[in-house]
Amino acid sequence: MDRLRDRLLREYRKRTPKSRATFRRAEKVMVNGGSHTMRLWPPYPFFADSAEGPIVRDVDGNSYIDYWQGHYANILGHNPRPVLREMTACLRKGALHTGFEAGHQIELAETLVRGLGGTGAKVRFTTSGTLATMYAVMLAQGVTGRELILKVGGGWHGASPYLLKGVKYHADEGFEGRESAGLLDDIVRRTLVTRFNNQDDLRRMIDAHGDRIACFIVEPFLGVGGFLPAAKGYLELARSLTAARGILLIFDEIISGFRFCPTGIQTLYGVRPDLTTFGKIIGGGHAVSAVVGSADVMESCERGRGGRGRVQFEGGTFSAHSEYMRAGLTMLKRLAGGAAAIYPGIARSGEKLRRGIEKAFAEAGIPARATGDGNAIVPGSSLFMVHFPRDKSVAYDRPEDVHDDRRSNIALREEILKLALLVNGVNIVHGGGAVSVAHGAKEIDATIAAYGEAARLFKKYLD
Ligand SMILES: Cc1ncc(COP(=O)(O)O)c(C=O)c1O
Repeated sequence: MDRLRDRLLREYRKRTPKSRATFRRAEKVMVNGGSHTMRLWPPYPFFADSAEGPIVRDVDGNSYIDYWQGHYANILGHNPRPVLREMTACLRKGALHTGFEAGHQIELAETLVRGLGGTGAKVRFTTSGTLATMYAVMLAQGVTGRELILKVGGGWHGASPYLLKGVKYHADEGFEGRESAGLLDDIVRRTLVTRFNNQDDLRRMIDAHGDRIACFIVEPFLGVGGFLPAAKGYLELARSLTAARGILLIFDEIISGFRFCPTGIQTLYGVRPDLTTFGKIIGGGHAVSAVVGSADVMESCERGRGGRGRVQFEGGTFSAHSEYMRAGLTMLKRLAGGAAAIYPGIARSGEKLRRGIEKAFAEAGIPARATGDGNAIVPGSSLFMVHFPRDKSVAYDRPEDVHDDRRSNIALREEILKLALLVNGVNIVHGGGAVSVAHGAKEIDATIAAYGEAARLFKKYLD
């Protein structure tokens, strides 16, 4: 693997001298030379110059078919025309005023509530997924008066202290390991981790701790944990067990919201949580997230409450910025209007990629698996994540398979495949990414060909 890494690094450096120089400068003043760990892959990231639809161009003039697409937010691709038009009109009018209530947020909130089939639900906007899940947990703790939080191993809900546990797989402690220095022991102890899609484990945890658990937070379609759909029975059980024990059920739909249908994926499952968090797509490329919940829960942060009974979910400087709201609304209108073509279309491309990539590696004699498939409830999916199993028994039906290096060759996915695709003009994250509406047949075929090139290289160097 070292020889292959060296070869790819040489090739990448040769193609990206300006990015390299830019990174050297950035390193002097910025932590690790940038602003998001995942964007700072070794040896240095390319620096983006422009982006359009499926393509991002770097400062050296290289083009990449991009599958991270704004951390999966850009379901219409980069710079989608309808949103750009709206933003241009908005800026011409002088929309850079911050700090007032403006009308578009109402329509966006109505859209979110209507999509979930909810009358009586209420929304509060904030500015990141991390904040939305943090406030959802705070609401649950405030409403129930309980202090334990239950989450699944492999579930990523952003970097708030409450939820920074059970994200990475640690060789010795599995999903029980500590994610970060600086977390107070008390908070770490109060977050319990259960196994995704494992009904027995969920039952056991709730039997043992139910009366002290404020909420169970889960992604109905696990994102960073491996692009794995929850089984319908699992979500139904979660609903009934939590309801029986007075625990609030939170669906984190920050990836899955508007990714599979023009609302939350929960409507496909027919399971209604107490609280839902949305982010990414709903901002039309801007910093928007939302907590949506039944009125009785959301009212616990309303002003009339006063005193210790009130959850301080106040909002921040940029909450529901009128420009962001207009962008988000334009995005959601476009998705609703085009849903009949958009969702089956990106799901077909996702399917073509998953199977095409597996075939390309099989032809080179390298075992590889692509997760991201739907299930009996989710008819199709635009997500794909490529893995290299250590042996044939790895089923890829749980996050442990994706994140335990004894089961999957993580370095091959995260470092080598990343570089092998970059030098072939494709930008991925965690071995894959998300198809957008802007990815046409040409890009999908070129992507499968690029994975094929990577497969041939792997064969040459790794045999
Ligand atoms: C499911 C999920 N929840 C929460 C977050 C955190 O969102 P943000 O990065 O906007 O803070 C993410 C981000 O990737 C996510 O995938």
